[in-house]
Amino acid sequence: MKAKSEIQPDPISLKITDQIFGMLNRIPYIAFYANTRGWAFILCWSHRITGLILVLFVWFHLSTLSALSIPGVYDAKMAFFSSPLVVFCEWLLAIPVIFHAVNGGRLMLFEIYGYRDDTAMIRWLGVVSAAYVCLMAVFMLLGNQSASPVFFWLTVFVMAVMGGYAFVARIWRLGHSQFWKFQRASGAFLLVMIPAHFLFMHLNPAVGKDSAVIIARMQNFFVKMVDLAMVLAVVYHGGYGLFSVGRDYIVSRRLQVLMAVLVAVVMILSAWIGLKPILTI
Ligand code: HEM
Repeated sequence: MKAKSEIQPDPISLKITDQIFGMLNRIPYIAFYANTRGWAFILCWSHRITGLILVLFVWFHLSTLSALSIPGVYDAKMAFFSSPLVVFCEWLLAIPVIFHAVNGGRLMLFEIYGYRDDTAMIRWLGVVSAAYVCLMAVFMLLGNQSASPVFFWLTVFVMAVMGGYAFVARIWRLGHSQFWKFQRASGAFLLVMIPAHFLFMHLNPAVGKDSAVIIARMQNFFVKMVDLAMVLAVVYHGGYGLFSVGRDYIVSRRLQVLMAVLVAVVMILSAWIGLKPILTI
């Protein structure tokens, strides 16, 4: 067996990550912090910023879906969202989605298993994210793929629950609050569900934009349960995330409680907006 220092890193992953980090290093602001504070610092801030972007997007996404109760209104909105510029923005959104998911997975591996090989983990974060974003581009350009919703979601759901269970079994032994444990558990579940959801929605334009196709899919009991679990996990995870970001800046205990109440109200409202079409269709 080779000694650790003799093990050669995968040349393809090295090439891809060298390209990605080379490009990022040409951006002056990023280069400054990469050289002075290191990539771990940049990743920490990027995780926070992408988390906030995702909270805003989830809010917007759930409010758009609430229009499904009047299919004509939904289809009119989607006609606007089909313009090339909006479709390009949808593809761009795959970047924060996959970055936050994989980097979240990296943080959880570290928190739960104490695994710490930052260089290798950061390299794989770049490779997996680049591969996912390219895959999304291929599906969006082809625009003619299809998959049985029950087959797709049964496979993905079983993977998410199994992967999540491995994390949850470890998390429960840690001395953190139940709220924290639920946030990490929801993160583990979403790590598989969100990238899969995003891919599924872009197999072809009708999957996410045609109200008749969406309504037919949502009428399946299993798909309904998957959607329900995803909305609850996303809203809880995002809500706790907002609270933990706020707690870093608000010192007063009284203001922290006020902020927690405010976040809870906004999240309950979001959950209601998201659950209503699922339960009524
Ligand atoms: C896709 C799968 C996801 C995974 C694996 C994941 C994982 C994580 C983890 C581990 C953290 C804690 C970071 C820390 O405390 O240092 C976190 C924070 C956060 N997440 Fe996620 N997350 C996911 C999806 C989402 C989604 C969909 C949203 C939006 C609703 C979101 C919003 C947030 C926010 C706002 C934070 C707080 C950021 C911070 O503390 O710096 N996440 N996420």
